[in-house]
Amino acid sequence: MSLINDILNNEDFSKQDIVSLLAISEKDEQDLLTTKAYSVKEKYIGRKAFVRGLIEFSNQCKKNCLYCGIRSGNSKVARYTLTDEEILSAVSLAVNNRYNGIVLQSGEISNQSFTKRITELIRKIKKEGGEDFRITLSLGEQSYETYREWFEAGAQRYLLRIETSNEQLYKKIHPDNDLHSFETRLNCLKEIQKAGYQTGTGVMIGLPFQTLEDLADDLLFLKSMSIDMVGMGPYIEHSDTPLYQEKENLLPLMERFNLSLRMISVLRLLMPFINIASTTALQSIFPMGREKGLKCGANILMPNLTPGKYRGSYLLYENKACIDEDADECLDCLDKRVQMVGEKIDYENFGDSKHYFNRYNPVS
Ligand code: 5AD
Ligand code: SF4
Ligand code: FES
Repeated sequence: MSLINDILNNEDFSKQDIVSLLAISEKDEQDLLTTKAYSVKEKYIGRKAFVRGLIEFSNQCKKNCLYCGIRSGNSKVARYTLTDEEILSAVSLAVNNRYNGIVLQSGEISNQSFTKRITELIRKIKKEGGEDFRITLSLGEQSYETYREWFEAGAQRYLLRIETSNEQLYKKIHPDNDLHSFETRLNCLKEIQKAGYQTGTGVMIGLPFQTLEDLADDLLFLKSMSIDMVGMGPYIEHSDTPLYQEKENLLPLMERFNLSLRMISVLRLLMPFINIASTTALQSIFPMGREKGLKCGANILMPNLTPGKYRGSYLLYENKACIDEDADECLDCLDKRVQMVGEKIDYENFGDSKHYFNRYNPVS
């Protein structure tokens, strides 16, 4: 107990400190960490969360990541792409519910007509939601020119998970070819920053072969890259993927869940001003998982606005939450859930990453 106390009183954390925090197994020690992280969140962000509506607009993907349920090699998936009308009606649902932004996510598709379609779509979404409406893109690896084109069209934020900062581990969970290169992923992340976006990345937690040292390095990577937003959550195995064969070599689900909460807390202590998402993967393991994430230091929720009939086809992992609900049901239940943990949703502010503005106007 005193070791954890001592570490939490440190100004900065060494890699070894982080490993010790991630290794916590006693409940009272986990509580100490959570309390400290929540006090930092309260101080710099407040007892609140921001929401963005998630639109999973296509499950087409040219990649074949070994862990992902919608990988191109999974022929059991019914592929879909939303029409502009379907996307815009999800946007209007967001607007009617006072959400001031959406996340547009799909598998990885890259060609000229896709680039143009997204550019046009960004303009249409701005018409529907207003000039200030926040658009976050999560559309994978693209060229610098494409990132710039979408930024100029009006998207303000981009999410591209690095998945793991350990190149060797990255190689173990992706096919060994040019389409799945760690170096390209890292370069894309840098180009997203250079293009001007509030930049988000993240990792999966509890992957086979992953150590606590790897996870500590992931957190230090996020800090060294001066990332503005983070989405990270537990790895959840999917039986139609090659990585499923490693299922005997995983931490039990609840341990992955608690480790994910500790990752969120340590990250909040390392980077007080960034936005941290409480992910659906947390909710998929434990019904109040996302709300627990908020109490551990996360401040962003991304309720699903994908039309109900497509949700069952966007299964990156199994037992995903809310796939039998329709968008308006998720909207209804969100406020109540957040109130249950003593927080509020902030509908008045955009919830831009404060860290992003600090990057451009350093405080000291
Ligand atoms: N478990 C948890 N997260 C997953 N993702 C993909 N497959 C899984 C899985 N089996 C995450 C990846 C990807 C994001 C869109 O979903 O981190 O970047
Ligand atoms: Fe495609 Fe993303 Fe799944 Fe990889 S993780 S197969 S890029 S949707
Ligand atoms: Fe989907 Fe409650 S968040 S039904």
